[in-house]
Amino acid sequence: MGKDVIVACDFSSKAEVLGFLDRFTGVKPFVKIGMELYYAEGPSIVREIKKRGHRIFLDLKLHDIPNTVMKAMRVLSRLDVDMCNLHAAGTRAMMEAALQGLTREDGTRPILIAVTQLTSTSQEAMTNELLIDRPIDEVVMSYALNAKLAGLDGVVCSPLEARKVHENCGSDFITVTPGVRFADGEKGDQVRVMTPAQAKEIGSDYIVVGRPITASPDPVAAYERCLKDFIG
Ligand code: C5P
Repeated sequence: MGKDVIVACDFSSKAEVLGFLDRFTGVKPFVKIGMELYYAEGPSIVREIKKRGHRIFLDLKLHDIPNTVMKAMRVLSRLDVDMCNLHAAGTRAMMEAALQGLTREDGTRPILIAVTQLTSTSQEAMTNELLIDRPIDEVVMSYALNAKLAGLDGVVCSPLEARKVHENCGSDFITVTPGVRFADGEKGDQVRVMTPAQAKEIGSDYIVVGRPITASPDPVAAYERCLKDFIG
């Protein structure tokens, strides 16, 4: 499985994101497009960035009844994204339907990964609001296993969970980990962070890096530093 750095393009307009990507005149980074940019600019922004030679992780976290997710995934697959995701909480039936929708006539499809419990959900909220009466790490591992049983390729998880996910679901089950910071950088609102080198050490397959690159005075140098530390 190819290891890579995915740059989180958390911008709200086409002008901003294209201005940012224009700086990358050599290697074209794998980029993540999230809800903010997608809802602001629509599918044309995906086509535009794809045309410029970037691979795309479309981070829309689908969660609905299986039939709706299947049909939505069919549309995303036609957009030729490289990776997309959904909530494992939608159940195995939903995840299987998603895979069916994503698979193109020639048998190819984007990588499909699941969000387990969002890292913003605390144990307390899970217990008292969602009435899930188990330790959060047990819930995360169970959701990851459901994703694997449904045939998905991997999960988004904290770098701190990546090793355990590989132990439970196999080394070829992909871990995509945000929460990455340089040792000498700002943490911002992220709490549990790891450096690119630590993420490599624990076996993350893809790291998702936003502000350490997008807010850097020299984004290309910051991206190259990530690549060097994570891939070598
Ligand atoms: O700027 P920063 O490096 O914190 O960006 C991380 C990216 O990963 C953001 O797009 C954020 O929404 C996403 N993400 C995250 N934590 C999760 C899931 C996604 O930070 N648990």
